[in-house]
Amino acid sequence: MTVHFIGAGPGAADLITLRGRDLIAASPVCLYAGSLVPEALLSHCPPGARIVNTAPLSLDQIMEEIAAAHAAGHDVARLHSGDLSVWSAMGEQLRRLRDLGIPYDVTPGVPSFAAAAAALGAELTLPGIAQSVVLTRTSGRATAMAETENLSAFAATGATLAIHLSIHVLEKVVDDLRPHYGGDCPVAIVWRATWPDQRIIRATLDTLQTAVGAEMERTALILVGRAIGAEDFNESRLYAGDYDRRYRPVGTAPRFPAGTE
Ligand SMILES: C[S@@+](CC[C@H](N)C(=O)[O-])C[C@H]1O[C@@H](n2cnc3c(N)ncnc32)[C@H](O)[C@@H]1O
Repeated sequence: MTVHFIGAGPGAADLITLRGRDLIAASPVCLYAGSLVPEALLSHCPPGARIVNTAPLSLDQIMEEIAAAHAAGHDVARLHSGDLSVWSAMGEQLRRLRDLGIPYDVTPGVPSFAAAAAALGAELTLPGIAQSVVLTRTSGRATAMAETENLSAFAATGATLAIHLSIHVLEKVVDDLRPHYGGDCPVAIVWRATWPDQRIIRATLDTLQTAVGAEMERTALILVGRAIGAEDFNESRLYAGDYDRRYRPVGTAPRFPAGTE
């Protein structure tokens, strides 16, 4: 018996890995984080599967479900939205499973920041503009942030920011970022990326507040940085015609002559 933690992706039911889909199909029990995991994924469960929405359950109750499946020898498919490496509450579940000696494995999923970037058709790391992406959030009711992990500190690096769980404090986000990026810095908000009702708002830090309607709440990503929508950036050296590299030796004395693999 194994508990399979599976990244369910950002919303579209076909944005799950083949491995994740097959594990769902092979597990007689499915526990899913109902608020963000698309119900369409549950159609992969085998007939007669026990399917439980864990949104209203406490961690203790979730562990009771897993312990019962373990006692019955049933594999569990445990679905969380996006990828499991960020804001999934997987860490505490894995720790409990280790304590109980219950086996588990982890299958990654498409994270929402990648889905939002895809919706924008944007590369978040453009040569000469930004080479780092910070996945971050602001303090929430359930989770406080360390004092050193604040938006101003990240903004000071000039990296592209992918700000999660923060659409409800947009004004504060803008106030924290404007001194570092400037009021004309591009911002995009992708609301419910890949869901049928996905919405995109492009603005600048100065114009964002008026561009965003009050109805846009929860499940949105705020992407900030000069890489968003930039046209004026360098081409990557990797593909430059005169760039000598292992897979495309160039010049009279290439660094990696053909046949040296
Ligand atoms: C609890 S976190 C889950 C993050 C998830 N594990 C991931 O890999 O993206 C929820 C936050 O992720 C972001 N998010 C998740 N799904 C999204 C989507 N489809 N579109 C935009 N933002 C999304 C929002 O900022 C939301 O408040």
